Amino acid sequence: MIKICFVCLGNICRSPMAEFIMKDLVTKKNLTNEFFIESRATSNEENGNGIYPPAQKKLLEKGITFDHSKKSTQLKKSDYDKYDYIIGMEKANIRNINFLFEDSNDKVYRLLDFSNNPRDISDPWYTNDFDKAYDDILEGCTFLLDFLTKNI
Ligand code: 4NP
Repeated sequence: MIKICFVCLGNICRSPMAEFIMKDLVTKKNLTNEFFIESRATSNEENGNGIYPPAQKKLLEKGITFDHSKKSTQLKKSDYDKYDYIIGMEKANIRNINFLFEDSNDKVYRLLDFSNNPRDISDPWYTNDFDKAYDDILEGCTFLLDFLTKNI
């Protein structure tokens, strides 16, 4: 079982989109028993809040099933041992994750560093571009799943 935690600033836009896009990809490959996938925030700003409605709308539009009761939860120190991969959306997330714990077992990565075009995923909370966020996250998750399934 591969345990993945996607991480962004608020856990109401990018990381929950990544969580449910990745679950969808895994389901389509009949690999649900091989993966445990969650998402967390580096900040506590949105603690307890649901997925941001425009992000929900994008997931619905793309036919991605998601948990309507998903609530923003802050990443905590003990999470380092809970997951095999802790995947941030942008450099600022990686910096914040590294403030919380030392990555002594090489678990922390930026999502699009798995792609052919390493880059940050812009925050749609600020850009309002949920199409771009969706496309970037799908690209990252597709490469990540390819990487992870090479050894299954
Ligand atoms: P996310 O977007 O990190 O993709 O979930 C944000 C959502 C909320 C805030 C920042 C980013 N906020 O500051 O409340």
